[in-house]
Amino acid sequence: MRVLGIETSCDETAAAVVVDGRRVLSSVIASQDELHAEYGGVVPEVASRAHLERLLPVVRGALERAGLTLADVDVLAVGHRPGLIGSLLVGLSAAKSLAWSLGRRLVGVDHVHAHLYAGLLGRDEPLDAYPALGLVASGGHTSMYACTGPGELRLLGSTIDDAIGEAYDKVATILGLGYPGGPAVDRLACEPGADERAHDFPIARLAPESLDFSFSGLKTSVLYAARGVPDRAGGFSRRADSLSAEHRRDIAASFQRAASAAIELKLTRGLERVPEARTILVGGGVAANSRLRETLESLARRRGVALVLPAREHCVDNAAMIAGLGHHLARAGRYAELSLAAVPTTGDAKEVR
Ligand code: KG4
Ligand code: ZN
Repeated sequence: MRVLGIETSCDETAAAVVVDGRRVLSSVIASQDELHAEYGGVVPEVASRAHLERLLPVVRGALERAGLTLADVDVLAVGHRPGLIGSLLVGLSAAKSLAWSLGRRLVGVDHVHAHLYAGLLGRDEPLDAYPALGLVASGGHTSMYACTGPGELRLLGSTIDDAIGEAYDKVATILGLGYPGGPAVDRLACEPGADERAHDFPIARLAPESLDFSFSGLKTSVLYAARGVPDRAGGFSRRADSLSAEHRRDIAASFQRAASAAIELKLTRGLERVPEARTILVGGGVAANSRLRETLESLARRRGVALVLPAREHCVDNAAMIAGLGHHLARAGRYAELSLAAVPTTGDAKEVR
């Protein structure tokens, strides 16, 4: 089955062709980073306008690279939730129009669930990864799931404040590294001589059984380490640009250590809650982080479970993961009507314990 995937939930316009949920024939991503950089974050209205301009060339590019035409597409898969409503609507409207005009079926894919399929792309037997413990670490989400199959997920925990990628982006702003900040913090922390033990930043445990995450305390500690504790009037004693290069890279490395340790702690609890998991499936932009990847590799080794990490280009938002998961939903008959709605929120409900 040849699935054309379309993804426009945030600020990446993407299209991809994936065969049988495995073979990625093409994956085209038009990033809008340059449009949002001056604002230090994604501006929803700017994002949806840019999707409108870029989507059709991106779809054409994906088909060309795959050596196919629209007539060769069997199914249209589109990320329809969660995300920025204006952005989602652009991709969803295009996918519906294509499905209708080509006489093909449509599948609506949850963007966060698709992140957990990204590591299975290109694998001979994707289904042998289940049951799995899933971690999505992205700019908008930090969530843990018990997974019994592609798109068969039970939410175990999620962030109660900032997503981990959001914390990376804010730390980058504090350190004056620009947007998007995650890759810049990663690079700085990897510079020779960076001391990840220089600062003992907090690792949020929350309640003893909690599988939720929290990153806002860590972010505030980084702010204070960089600029000093504010006085009564809220003023800081130091300017961020007065930090030495050495101090900045130590803060970046110490932040990465604490952020990775927080993930490790919650995954360890998650493995206890889901003892049948044979795999840790990871996805989302922060899964590209070198420190987190090392931490996850060592955790999986110690716990005797397999680790599925996406290729770096499939960590950040892309349409190959949408087409890949879309294949399995289509195989299960989970097609959508043309009335499919764009939904800003996730449909996951956490189990109450
Ligand atoms: O998955 P994604 O593309 O978008 C969402 O669905 O949110 O994730 C984007 C996030 C951004 O916060 C970005 O700073 C972060 O992923 N990111 C990284 C790295 N590469 C991207 N964070 C840490 N280290 C990286 N190497
Ligand atoms: Zn994403």
